[in-house]
Amino acid sequence: MLVACLEDGSVVGWIHVYIAMRVESNPFGELGGFVVEENHRRRGIGSALLGAAETWLTGRGIETLRVRSRSTRVDAHAFFEKAGFSMTKDQRVFDKPIMIDT
Ligand SMILES: CC(C)(COP(=O)(O)OP(=O)(O)OC[C@H]1O[C@@H](n2cnc3c(N)ncnc32)[C@H](O)[C@@H]1OP(=O)(O)O)[C@@H](O)C(=O)NCCC(=O)NCCS
Repeated sequence: MLVACLEDGSVVGWIHVYIAMRVESNPFGELGGFVVEENHRRRGIGSALLGAAETWLTGRGIETLRVRSRSTRVDAHAFFEKAGFSMTKDQRVFDKPIMIDT
């Protein structure tokens, strides 16, 4: 995880990037979370965090970065498109609670 700090050390943004492994595809980078504090947006902090995440991935031989973004996050979609991402999938997510027998 990478964080963006002000000069006084306060954290104003963070990005979590990891390498996803799948049986049927080459390893790729994926964002697990990415937030810039609301009153610090549109100052290039998100772009700087994303650039650092990309550098981390390319240093490990990874050539693709994926982000899954809720369909209602229109602002974030504008950011990602500006940053060079294009939409490749439209998915639904299913969760199931699972019980551990005791
Ligand atoms: C997405 C997010 C991380 C972007 O961070 P940021 O620091 O504001 O991004 P930047 O300042 O680097 O923006 C770079 C460019 O992206 C585009 N952009 C960013 N936010 C935008 C918005 N709300 N609407 C339209 N375009 C936007 C602009 O082109 C911007 O350049 P400009 O400000 O010179 O016009 C931030 O909006 C955020 O934390 N959103 C809430 C959490 C979220 O949705 N995270 C993504 C989860 S998938």
